[in-house]
Amino acid sequence: MTTRTLWNLKTARSSYVVSVGTDGRLENLHWGVPLSDEEADSLHTPTDFGIFPSSFSASSGDEVSSRDGRDLRTPSLDFTFPDGSRVVNLKFAEAQADGDTLSLVMTDVRREIDVILTYDIFPEQDVIRRGCRIVNRSSDTVRLSAVSGVDLKLPRRAKRITYLPGRWAADPQLAQTPLIDGITQLEGRGGFTGHRSKPWFAVDDGTANETFGEVWSASLMWSGSWKLAVERTTVEELHAQLGIHEDGLLVDLAPGESMDAPNVVLTYSAAGFGGVSDNWHDFVRDEVLRSSEPRPVLFNSWEAHMFDVNESTQLELAQRAAEIGCELFVVDDGWFRGRNDEHGGLGDWYHDPRKFPAGLLPLSRRVHSLGMKFGLWVEPEMVSPRSDLFREHPDWIYTAGGETPVEMRGQLVLDLGRAEVRRHIRQTLERLITDNELDYLKWDFNRPITVAGDAARSGGVVVRDHVRHLYEVLDEIREKFPHLLIEGCAGGGARADYGMLSHTDLVWPTDNTDPLDRIELQRAFSFAFPANVTSSWVTGSPSLLNGRVSSLEFRFHVAMCGVLGVGDDITLWDDADLELARRMVGLYKRNRDLVQNGRLSRLFLSEDSSAVQYNDHAATRAIVFAFAHGRAFGRRIENLRLRNLMPNAWYRTNDGRRYSGRMLASVGLPVDLTGDLASTVIEVYQEGLVSGIDG
Ligand code: GLA
Repeated sequence: MTTRTLWNLKTARSSYVVSVGTDGRLENLHWGVPLSDEEADSLHTPTDFGIFPSSFSASSGDEVSSRDGRDLRTPSLDFTFPDGSRVVNLKFAEAQADGDTLSLVMTDVRREIDVILTYDIFPEQDVIRRGCRIVNRSSDTVRLSAVSGVDLKLPRRAKRITYLPGRWAADPQLAQTPLIDGITQLEGRGGFTGHRSKPWFAVDDGTANETFGEVWSASLMWSGSWKLAVERTTVEELHAQLGIHEDGLLVDLAPGESMDAPNVVLTYSAAGFGGVSDNWHDFVRDEVLRSSEPRPVLFNSWEAHMFDVNESTQLELAQRAAEIGCELFVVDDGWFRGRNDEHGGLGDWYHDPRKFPAGLLPLSRRVHSLGMKFGLWVEPEMVSPRSDLFREHPDWIYTAGGETPVEMRGQLVLDLGRAEVRRHIRQTLERLITDNELDYLKWDFNRPITVAGDAARSGGVVVRDHVRHLYEVLDEIREKFPHLLIEGCAGGGARADYGMLSHTDLVWPTDNTDPLDRIELQRAFSFAFPANVTSSWVTGSPSLLNGRVSSLEFRFHVAMCGVLGVGDDITLWDDADLELARRMVGLYKRNRDLVQNGRLSRLFLSEDSSAVQYNDHAATRAIVFAFAHGRAFGRRIENLRLRNLMPNAWYRTNDGRRYSGRMLASVGLPVDLTGDLASTVIEVYQEGLVSGIDG
């Protein structure tokens, strides 16, 4: 018979076990393989067994940590009370279980402060979403200077962290590094997620690979400044804190007020990094996105004409885009008044009459009559000092107590804390969408929030509120225009995160469109994000970034691994190019369900080649992309050993070959690729289930 209060949070392939220790603190007894309730009940607490208690090993608990006067860890919640005390002693008070949601209320022993931890279970995706609400029930104002909210106990045997670092046009990459005996920290500053790293990580014991081994992973559902700290404690336990960056954060909670920390989602897989990606992909598609409707094949004007857009060139491009099968035409930056370079115009969201004398509606109508949707690039949170909006409302920007505002990319950030600014942005967008019959917005954000705050509002709070207000505006727009698709963007992928995806439909993952770089960046991106949110364009050759020359076919194959788009000056393409493009777009549309909503397997990435596979969940079809990067020493590209197919089924390839699923998994599909930047696509169809392939 159990004498403990214990919860076994079960997903299809994992268990997460929390209990109340004898001292009223929460203990995380297990996160990993599924356990029955009986098994969970037999788990030992660390103090029961194995660890010699000492004055150096005191802990304020596993699920949230605070300055309780004993714990030496960085607190996940940091309070200051009016009497100067910073001590908080949280003890379990009550639990509420409601379907797949568990709430654990912790209360400070002395003051009327509650911390409510919530656990939402997504059984099919093996994901648990953790939330944290801090409630001030006291009659004093309480100050918070750190709000990670979620303290996550990781297995002691985890030795390595996998994460997604980057910088502009090099985001994200994949990195793996041993966890140090101390604090391993990743962060994003400046009021946005940033290029430096995604708020996502995974840990393992150092032996996991794509298909093998236990992997624990978590991510923050938040698009503002953030911090991850993975700490090896004095008793060699491993804890991760994931939350709002504490830099400049001072939240004063008035009596009766409460604050929610950003949610953290976590998943476990015993099937390696591929298993963890599967879980994240399913979770994002099923629970984060509003819909998994197929994303349209897009044309975007940015790399074709930069700021130099006008009605006649856009009409010409639109005609061509429709001919090759594009379904959406987006005019990127440069379409509005005063916008001939990056130093003007932001805020004046009216068409430039010199570029579009009759406005944008005729172009929109023409695009629609060509059978495509129509969209525009906007950067609604920004203003250029050279704009009417700034001249009329110089006080609408963030400043730090009268400091001269700092321009970056020639622009300043609007103060979304002001209701009139939010109203203005909403009304501006509503007008643009209605007047121009828009179906799509590319919503950009091209500089950090570096100076924010005044005497009354500190920078950290401004940055926190900015993100909340951004989400609010996005939601209002989506509610008013349910048909509208929104692509999130921030100088490439600096706002590609699960927070932004909860309020948009897809993201621009990086400003790097060089196809060879993209193979690596898209691969890294796929650790956390499904292909249906990964906008990917075929741009010109040589690449604007690297000057690398590549064939149009290679560029198409790379872009087809995400949401296919075209971003080159297609009026310059010759007949052969257009014919190839038509074929590629057709091939993509035929397999879009597999790529966007199927199961993705990163087959391999070596120095000279790589391959990626997408298949349906029933394993009846697959599409495989193989890339030779740079050939050396006459080496052949390795056979493509496919995953997730049925061993006893026979499959055919589009080039007429026939293999059993078992052969495809073990011997693999031979491919013949010669030359640098060569690529191929193979479609695989199930021929019919057969018996007797054994021995
Ligand atoms: C950002 C985006 C680009 C493009 C430009 C326009 O850098 O990431 O795709 O839209 O802005 O100025």
